[in-house]
Amino acid sequence: MNIGIRTKLIFFFSKKLCTLSYDQFINPVVLETPISGIRLVNSWESKIPLREQIHLNIGQPDLPTPSYIKYAAVEALEKDLTRYTDVLGEKYLRNAIVGFQDSFHHLRYSSDEVLVTAGGQSAIFAVLKAILSPNDNVIVPFPSYPPYINAIKYNYANILPLKTTVDHDFNLIPEKIRERLEKKPVKALLLISPSNPTGTIVPKETLEEIVNLANEFNFLILSDEIYSDIIFDNQAYTSVATLSDAWERTIIIQSFSKMLSMCGFRIGYILAPGPLIDQIKVIHHTMNICANNIAQYAAYKALEDQNQLKRAISSLVKTYQDRRDLCIEALTNSDKISISKPRGAFYLFPKIDNLNMIRFCKWLKYNYGVTTVPGSYFSTDLIEEHNQYFRICFTAEKEKLDLGMKKILLATEKYKKT
Ligand SMILES: Cc1ncc(COP(=O)(O)O)c(C=O)c1O
Repeated sequence: MNIGIRTKLIFFFSKKLCTLSYDQFINPVVLETPISGIRLVNSWESKIPLREQIHLNIGQPDLPTPSYIKYAAVEALEKDLTRYTDVLGEKYLRNAIVGFQDSFHHLRYSSDEVLVTAGGQSAIFAVLKAILSPNDNVIVPFPSYPPYINAIKYNYANILPLKTTVDHDFNLIPEKIRERLEKKPVKALLLISPSNPTGTIVPKETLEEIVNLANEFNFLILSDEIYSDIIFDNQAYTSVATLSDAWERTIIIQSFSKMLSMCGFRIGYILAPGPLIDQIKVIHHTMNICANNIAQYAAYKALEDQNQLKRAISSLVKTYQDRRDLCIEALTNSDKISISKPRGAFYLFPKIDNLNMIRFCKWLKYNYGVTTVPGSYFSTDLIEEHNQYFRICFTAEKEKLDLGMKKILLATEKYKKT
């Protein structure tokens, strides 16, 4: 029998013979965690043909990876870099990361305090797996990047939510953190700065207050800094680990994905004191053995010449800043939309009072072909207000963004009338 037909028949019958209920074998916590809403919105229907739709849902740079980095990946293959590397990552890359973080962000680490991972995502997972036990408490400001929520739940730990809103430019209020700390012991506090999904940067004064609290109440600061090189308006960026009495308590999550349009390379890293790295390394080894060897070489080449790197980053930042300005200018024309100007990253998190955003975003996609993500997908059921927000990524060229903003404005007008 023709092999193709035989495979199809086996597949057909094996599907038919699946009488087991597989849920009984799955961890209930996994059953309860939904697939990321950022992807889910792709399956929503639209009457607009696919080629005319405008996708502003996935936080993936549309700008190409700089050519010199792509050539480095080719060179890595020519050099036969196809074996496992050191679990921590190649020493030449870790040294380059140490030099880069020192000169760009005044962070002081040694190469043994760097762990190269398969993207920031696996860094998140490895860190949380290493530090959390069941029933530990983690303070999470919302809205937040959803995989943190899942990863905390997979460790049977509790989330203590902190609400942030557009009225305060999504800033954290240290007194609210203190209130949580006075009620329960806390293992860690999560900071994402610049934030996904709001683009907010935690001001230095707030960071200082958080560090004081960390020392008073003895918790770790988990600082996601993967957007720390996409900063607008020439502002200075402060990493929490540079503040006094903070270094020992901070675990930094970093990545090459956004800073240099390298999402598919899957290279991120963790910066933390050696004793923490030694433990997180065990989880990382269990998950990945090591990060991709070819991508590690490309990441090393990305950092090798700091002048070239500065040029590559500032060209990306300029593009994102122009786009941010375009979107902000368009959306502030509407009296229905409240918006905070993002200081970094490439996200907007506008609010429209009294709208259910899941319904609105579905309607927007169906009628206008613009895909965005409802704010509740970045939040918790405990914070109802976030149902009135939605996330827009400005990772599309200006013409598309311009059209997208016009359609969003039109939709907000029409929607109220339907
Ligand atoms: C705040 C934040 N952290 C981590 C990640 C993971 O990125 P990657 O795994 O591509 O490095 C993302 C991706 O969107 C993110 O927004």
